[in-house]
Amino acid sequence: MEKILIRGGKPLYGTIEIDGMKNAALPIVFAALLVPGKCHIDNLPAVKDIALSLKILETLGARVEMLGPNSVEIDATCACPILPSADLTRKMRASYYLLGAGLGRFGSAMVGYPGGCDFGKRPIDQHVKGFESLGAIVEESEDGLITATVGEGGLHSGNIFFDVVSVGATLNVMMAAVTAPGQTIIENAAREPHIVDLANFLNTCGAQITGAGTDTIKIKGVSELHGCSYAIIPDMIEAGTYMAAVAATSGQVKINNVIPKHLESITAKLEEMGVSVEELDDAVVVTRTEPLQKCNIKTLPYPGFPTDMQPQFCALFCLAEGTCHLTEGVWDNRFRYVDELRRLGAQIEVNGKTASVTGGAPLHGTSVRAVDLRGGAAMVIAGLCADGQTVIDDIHLIERGYHDLVGKLTAVGADICRVVYPDPIVQLS
Ligand code: EPZ
Repeated sequence: MEKILIRGGKPLYGTIEIDGMKNAALPIVFAALLVPGKCHIDNLPAVKDIALSLKILETLGARVEMLGPNSVEIDATCACPILPSADLTRKMRASYYLLGAGLGRFGSAMVGYPGGCDFGKRPIDQHVKGFESLGAIVEESEDGLITATVGEGGLHSGNIFFDVVSVGATLNVMMAAVTAPGQTIIENAAREPHIVDLANFLNTCGAQITGAGTDTIKIKGVSELHGCSYAIIPDMIEAGTYMAAVAATSGQVKINNVIPKHLESITAKLEEMGVSVEELDDAVVVTRTEPLQKCNIKTLPYPGFPTDMQPQFCALFCLAEGTCHLTEGVWDNRFRYVDELRRLGAQIEVNGKTASVTGGAPLHGTSVRAVDLRGGAAMVIAGLCADGQTVIDDIHLIERGYHDLVGKLTAVGADICRVVYPDPIVQLS
């Protein structure tokens, strides 16, 4: 059983290198299923969800060869639309990209209901709406098996207006539409950088996608895609997490391999709190020497403040002067981690979709757990600032999306380590 131990109070100084973006790499890895050829993908983040997605592709018959810790060659020439193991697919939300990629390649796909972080309801009705507009029939069995198939005519182009801005549905329908004859138009599309990254990857494979990054995406179906070489964009959420960490502890850290434009909403909020963020071509330098000023945030789809930075800023708000209000504008319930912050001494009131954080109360180290990926990152940030020792359990959830978080923070002066405890011997009564 692995845990993270932190002794708080150390300011952070030095340099951190950012990896490729997990939420861009996941759809791109699954999109390789669309290609009857070799795809060489670089800047792949070495995180557990990526390893899991590659394993799922192999169970479908794709050949996967790691060329280095952050490089892979995927050849899906011999892949086929069999049902992947539910033991694998239920471990993460991104498994549902098999539906779009399978429809686009084979005209059929099956997947067990996807897992992922628990934010309350996580419906897929917009994915289904998109697939059905392309001529697919989507069914869900009692036990959660989702199948998508097309009639003899195969997929056709469609016009989809999403009722909700959905990253996953935008990515999934884009994948299904790349080989659908005619022009498909997706409106009210998500505009995240990872939508653009998938579109760029698919266009490098011969697709004809325009408008990614705007709310209207047009896809002209092509008969077949071909292999390519591609590099994943840097992870704006990993970068934002370390920006919040140095803002919390004080100090100065240069964060390399970023696209500053993707960090604009995070930078704006840090500057509002009195933190300096210097933007370089592919790096930012974050400096905090003064007390943190309070501010308010509402999370929104890109280019608004990202929901995936919400827990990390809630931890940061615990150190600000005054009361900060944090409203979750994307998910039904993304405050499950607040109870864990309270165990550290945080003063947080949650009322519906808004958390009010009263800063200034000292945080005291204790045992907490990662309730999900970004909630776990919030525990790390709080632990870096708490008196005494903080022990974080369930760190496998953090390692789904952060490669070598302990190593990266140690390198900038944090007193943090990863400890493996023997699993408790079950006492037979
Ligand atoms: C992706 O989830 C990310 N996951 C999430 O990041 C992120 O929080 C989310 O996008 C929003 O940016 C991955 O990329 C693997 P959505 P996704 O579809 O695609 C509603 C992390 O920490 N909705 O954009 O599942 C939904 O309930 C993870 O890395 C429908 O109503 O999110 C939510 O309220 C956590 N019907 C909103 O839309 C649908 O069919 C946004 O969801 C689909 C979504």
